[in-house]
This record gives sequence, structure tokens and C-alpha cells, in this order.
Amino acid sequence: MPDTTTIESLEALRLEALRELESASGEALEVWRSKYLGRKGRLTQVLRGIVGMPPDERRSFGAAANTLKEVLENAFADRAAAVGPKPADTGLDVTLPGRRPLQGRLHPVTQTVRDIAEALTAMGFQIVEGPEVEHDYYNFTALNIPPDHPARDMWDTLWVDRVDAEGNPRILLRTHTSPMQARVMEKTKPPVRVAVPGRCYRYEATDATHEWHFHQVEGLAVAEGITFAELKGTLYEFARRIFGPERKVRFRCDYFPFVEPGVDMAIDWKGEWLEIMGAGMVHPRVLAGVGYDPEKFTGFAFGMGVERIALLRHGIDDIRHFAANDLRFLSQF
Ligand code: DAH
Repeated sequence: MPDTTTIESLEALRLEALRELESASGEALEVWRSKYLGRKGRLTQVLRGIVGMPPDERRSFGAAANTLKEVLENAFADRAAAVGPKPADTGLDVTLPGRRPLQGRLHPVTQTVRDIAEALTAMGFQIVEGPEVEHDYYNFTALNIPPDHPARDMWDTLWVDRVDAEGNPRILLRTHTSPMQARVMEKTKPPVRVAVPGRCYRYEATDATHEWHFHQVEGLAVAEGITFAELKGTLYEFARRIFGPERKVRFRCDYFPFVEPGVDMAIDWKGEWLEIMGAGMVHPRVLAGVGYDPEKFTGFAFGMGVERIALLRHGIDDIRHFAANDLRFLSQF
């Protein structure tokens, strides 16, 4: 074993290490580093031996050995910088600009539902919600549309694949939010004033203004002495809040089995009228069906199509955009 405790031996170690380092690259660089500077490396061994030396030798030898350690470390760093992997070799360019994170937001239909709810709550309506899978009693019968009544054809219905004892399907995907009229009145004594946002479904061919699934907001106000004038005032005020005071509104007679008289409201859209809601005075039979005395109470109801309102507000040309999930469309709102 060569003597490693003299200044001369350190000098020999220095020459040998540096000569070897001169030609090292790639993996050989790492081999060199562990051979001389690693935990079991040669210089490390020398440094460990220092503790056992007589004190006067220890000071000068220790200083020389530590200097050598620094020399070798610096030489290694220089060599590695000259021949080792460059930052560019790793494929990472730290000077590139960062990527902007995607920002989420509410779907335009959700935004419109919220705006409608806000306009109606400001007018004293209370928000309630109901089931999307509904019994045919609430969707039709309680709304003065008995089984086998031709008015059922007004709504192309998606039935749930389940039949009652007589073999008739009785469960459906609600075709409108109107079933909540009966559900609310059954559970509440008048006066009631509620608004019902929610999703509806119809077995329907789609086009620019029709979807097979869509949202409605229903409104219902029942009390003593409510008149048609209040219905009209409420709907005009609603239209003013949602579309602004300048937008043209058309109001005309229409037929719905659960109201008498019935009306519909349309807004001007691309030079035409687009119907956005049906409305009317709640039919006495609907009131009687939930146990209200139609001699004493009157009320009005309305139901509006949310997607159509969103079309009108944003100047969108096709209702099918809403459910297509295309970010190029959705990120405009
Ligand atoms: N439920 C009707 C539909 O979806 C819309 C409607 C008409 C709702 C008249 C009402 C109403 O509350 O009074 O076609």
C-alpha cells in the first residue's frame, strides 16, 4: 500500500487524477468522480486518515488535502460543464413562455337559468325544484290532461320502460316543468308564488330551435283575487329585466289544457317571432284537483324555454350548440 500521508503523495494523487480527468467524458466522468471524490474514493480515504496523525503533521497535511479536494472538485465541475450534458440536450427550454391555464366558467344555459331566477325572485317568487323522472299523473292528469286525452299529443313523450297492472306505461321523463304546479299546491296552502327551473325531455326531431332535452322555468302564483292583468304585468316586467326595455314582445292567445285563457309570448328574433313561453290563468280544474277552492282562489302560471331565451340574449343561431360541448362555442360566454 503506497504511503498516502505525505505531501508528495498528495501531489502524485493530484497529477494522476487530473491526467485521468482530461480525457474523461460521458459515463467515465461519473466513474472518475466516485473513484476520487466518492464516499470510498481515494481522496476521501486520505481525508479520513487525517484524524490519526500526530497533531503538528495533521495541520499542514490537512490543509493541503483540503486544498486538493477543492482543486479536484473544481476540475470536475469544469470538465463536466465542457463535455457533460447541456441544458438543451434535456429537451427543456426554460426560456419558453408559460402556458396559460384554462379558465372555467358557468355554461351559458346555467347563466341564463340564474338570471331568470334572479329576475323572478326579485318579483317575489320562491325557487323550488322537482323530479325529472315524473309520474304521468303530475305531468298530464293533474294538469287537466286525462289519460287518452288528445292534448297529450302536444308533448312527444319519452316513457320509462315500466308498466302498471293494466299494462300502461305510467312513468316518463317530464316534458315540461308544469308538473311542479300540482306538486307544490298539494303541499302548500295558498297564497303560493313559486318559480321552478329544471331540465325537460321530449321525443322530438331536433332543429335550430328544438332540442330533445332542454330547460324550462315554470312560474305559478295563486291567491285570492289574482287577475289576468297581474299575469301580463309580471311577464312584461320579466321581459324588460331579461331583454331590456327596447326589445319587442308579442303576446297572443294560445291553448294549453291547464290554463283558461291561455297565451304565449314571443320575442323578435332575426325578423321573426320566437316563442319563449306559454302562460295563462290556472284552470279551475287544476285548482280543484289539488284541493283549492276555485271559487275563492285564482292564479296565473307560465313556463318558459331557457335555451331559447339564451339564443335571443346572445344572438346565437342554433339551439344545438348548447349541448355540443364544443369549447370554441362555450368559451365565448
Ligand atoms: N308547459 C308548457 C309547455 O311546455 C308551457 C306552459 C304553458 C306553461 C302555459 C305554463 C302555462 O305554466 O300556463 O309547452
